[in-house]
Amino acid sequence: MSEWKKNRELMRSHFDCTAFIEQESDQNLGITPPPVEIEPLEGALITPLPEPGIELVKSDIARCFLERKSRRKYTGEALSLQELSYMLQATQGVKKAIPAYNNRGTITLRTVPSAGARHPFETYLAVNNVVGIEPGIYRYSALNHNLVFLFSVSGVEDRITEAAVGQSFVGHAPVVFFWACKPYLGEWRYKGESHKAMLLDAGHVCQNLYLAAESLGLGTVAIAAYSQDKVDELLKLDGIDEFVVYLAPVGKVAVD
Ligand SMILES: Cc1cc2nc3c(=O)[nH]c(=O)nc-3n(C[C@H](O)[C@H](O)[C@H](O)COP(=O)(O)O)c2cc1C
Repeated sequence: MSEWKKNRELMRSHFDCTAFIEQESDQNLGITPPPVEIEPLEGALITPLPEPGIELVKSDIARCFLERKSRRKYTGEALSLQELSYMLQATQGVKKAIPAYNNRGTITLRTVPSAGARHPFETYLAVNNVVGIEPGIYRYSALNHNLVFLFSVSGVEDRITEAAVGQSFVGHAPVVFFWACKPYLGEWRYKGESHKAMLLDAGHVCQNLYLAAESLGLGTVAIAAYSQDKVDELLKLDGIDEFVVYLAPVGKVAVD
């Protein structure tokens, strides 16, 4: 069977109720769950985000899903921190964090669904043009609703364009969202069945970005065509325990 036909197995479900209950997942073996999100390094520069509440250009949800489309032309104008705050809440915002697994872990309930509430992603931002914060690579702390500054990258627009296989509207956007998966968060509970679910989870996250951007009069486009190595290298991810699965530039919509 060709390689790509073998990949069809990933799309099929292999869940079997009895096997699921009896399976020796790390959760069932009583192994402490991995943390919900990466802790910032000591002394990291933290930017608190404003309350996500914001006056919307389109507040009618039906209008947002009817008018949503992939938008690849941006004016280059800066986004506000409040717009960013709203989009981060829409995509990964934590509504509730509950102590779980005999107090050895936490379950988060967020603005998006996730299989088993595992929420296996970190959100990284390449900030190019946002009022009030320096350009650079940031990680979103969903638990604290703030941004952790990680590092700056010289020639970042070209690096991102190259990593997005030449799609220059990605590199030149005021902000790019990168969703990096930490596969063990899903594997801990669902072992080999987790991988399909984690990719499905990513779809919900990006759709919320489409709708949130639309409601703000901003535009975005889902990006799955990218160089895995170049994107992970840009964000300094190891590519094994954490790697990007999806990304999306956001900007003010330019008239076509
Ligand atoms: C999983 C996925 C991957 C995509 N990857 C890209 C991409 O790499 N580059 C791009 O320009 N558009 C990409 N798109 C956007 C699609 O081309 C777009 O959704 C499709 O043409 C339908 O247009 P609409 O979103 O305006 O309805 C992707 C969309 C999805 C859902």
